Amino acid sequence: LLIFSGTAHPQLTNKICEYLNVSQGKVYIGRFPDKEVDVKVESDVRGADVFIVQPTCCPANENLMELLILIDCLRRASADRITAVIPYYGYARKDRKDEGRVPITAKLVANLLVNSGVDRVLTVDLHAAQIQGFFDIPVDHLLAGSVFVPYFESLKIPDLVVVSPDVGSLKQARSYAKRLHGDLAIVDKRRESAEKVSSLNIIGDVDQKNALLVDDMISTGGSIAEACRFLKDKGAKKIYICATHPVLCGNATEKLQKLPVEEIVVSDSIPIPGSKQLDNLKVISLA
Ligand code: R5P
Repeated sequence: LLIFSGTAHPQLTNKICEYLNVSQGKVYIGRFPDKEVDVKVESDVRGADVFIVQPTCCPANENLMELLILIDCLRRASADRITAVIPYYGYARKDRKDEGRVPITAKLVANLLVNSGVDRVLTVDLHAAQIQGFFDIPVDHLLAGSVFVPYFESLKIPDLVVVSPDVGSLKQARSYAKRLHGDLAIVDKRRESAEKVSSLNIIGDVDQKNALLVDDMISTGGSIAEACRFLKDKGAKKIYICATHPVLCGNATEKLQKLPVEEIVVSDSIPIPGSKQLDNLKVISLA
């Protein structure tokens, strides 16, 4: 067993190796003068069971390309089995043609990965579970609930209602509500643009309850901010946020800083730069 890290998230790879007590495979990853990716694997991988840890985000293009080149490199070095560990699967939000003349990037990325020679993909909280079926190779779709739910259990939040900020996160919210013995509510969210969303209605009762908002990711922070405003408007008491992937782009951190919430709980599927740290942010490791 050999574990390699791309340059996207070496901290997570270190934690995984530490947890498993496995030393990391040696690889040089640099850039040619024209910025093309330069890779050389320095460990002997012939016949080995190899894992590469690399979220494909932040920046998505650089980290995806690096992952594809690493896979190609390991395949040509005669690794026996190559598993791409992609804690955050980027380009997932385009998973169908919801209007004319748009791509399906989640499928395109699946094709690129399979064609690069990967044998298996391991990922966490896909934006849409059906992306698993875009691959003709095994995909282990892990759920971050296995680390989040025990944490929220330990908080023992009374009068709990788990809230999905849109229909997309409903399954995740329902599963958390069941396991935390809370009620369930769903916000009817409408996206007006990439940065602007509005809430029209809520199904379920949040009045005088403590709300746990559950989403797969926080990107611009628009969805979470709007859901918090709406929940307060509907009489929610304390609000907790749980989002698997802290993409935190643009001024998301400033937006989150202003929210009237107890805690924002995320995973370390993506590294969070120091400049994006928040006082009430808790990061739970997926390692
Ligand atoms: C939407 O379908 C997702 O589950 C997230 O709610 C969304 O991508 C979050 O994006 P933002 O933070 O930009 O509102």
